[in-house]
Amino acid sequence: MKTRNILVLGGKGKTGRRVAQRLIKLGHNVRIGSRSENPAFDWDNPETWPGSLAGMDMVYITFQPDLAVPGALKAIKGFSAEALKAGLKKLVLLSGKGEKEAELCENVVMNAGTDWTIVRASWFNQNFSESFFLDPILAGHVALPMNKALVPYVDADDIADVAVEALLDDKHVGETYELTGPRQLTFEQASHEISKATARDIQFESITMDKYMSMLRAYQLPDDHLWLINYLFTEVLTESNSVVSHDVERVLGRKAKDFKDYAIETAATGVWNPVV
Ligand SMILES: NC(=O)c1ccc[n+]([C@@H]2O[C@H](COP(=O)([O-])OP(=O)(O)OC[C@H]3O[C@@H](n4cnc5c(N)ncnc54)[C@H](OP(=O)(O)O)[C@@H]3O)[C@@H](O)[C@H]2O)c1
Repeated sequence: MKTRNILVLGGKGKTGRRVAQRLIKLGHNVRIGSRSENPAFDWDNPETWPGSLAGMDMVYITFQPDLAVPGALKAIKGFSAEALKAGLKKLVLLSGKGEKEAELCENVVMNAGTDWTIVRASWFNQNFSESFFLDPILAGHVALPMNKALVPYVDADDIADVAVEALLDDKHVGETYELTGPRQLTFEQASHEISKATARDIQFESITMDKYMSMLRAYQLPDDHLWLINYLFTEVLTESNSVVSHDVERVLGRKAKDFKDYAIETAATGVWNPVV
């Protein structure tokens, strides 16, 4: 096997961490793209990009906070051009399923002049254990709007497995994969799965979007975070975006992880044990 030099942006985040672990285990030379590494990588500081790209063959791109935010397109354009200039041969972009603005960024990567694969993911299971839904789960009270929305949650381990395949096997060049889990769940059903897996009473409360936004404002979330959350709930949680895809199975030759299995495995790590 040829050892590759691979930059993993967001290498300490939900999918990047898993991608980096897999590549290191396979013997590749991985550079973690992070604001706290040396060289540092910061999306807000283009001067850090060439140093992170130097000597690399390919890159797994996870943008922060989301490809839909104003400014993402400019950053992806600048970064892709810099990657080409640095001699990188392949870009694998993590995108969001059902985000129109993200598709503009995908087009930039597709036309960057390198090999590319787009990995378009549904909402992650890990939002409940490594992100914004963790605190409500720990509190035993999940209050969310849009409870009629059906979300085909996908597991970060499956995303990482697909991303690694895309980086290492050229048969994925020029492909756009839509990654979902095997079934759709409402927020209430997802909370219920976690309640069963942890044997904890986790109450679900269906609230309006207005009430949710007021709650978040009371936590003094910055305006750009509020904008993104409002966008994700109102633009991404649509009926057309709830369709289950079979691309995880198509790429990996095995079924995508079910939310129930994620909940059982994650409960065993203790991350959902209430803090006493
Ligand atoms: N979460 C979902 O359900 C979901 C679904 C579909 C697509 N996506 C997409 O996945 C991508 C990652 O989102 P995520 O929420 O899951 O986050 P994440 O991958 O868990 O990433 C968190 C990491 O982002 C890094 N970061 C924050 N600000 C940065 C900056 N200015 N420059 C460089 N790195 C920065 C931090 O790393 P350091 O502190 O180490 O720098 C942190 O470890 C986003 O583009 C999102 O749109 C997410």
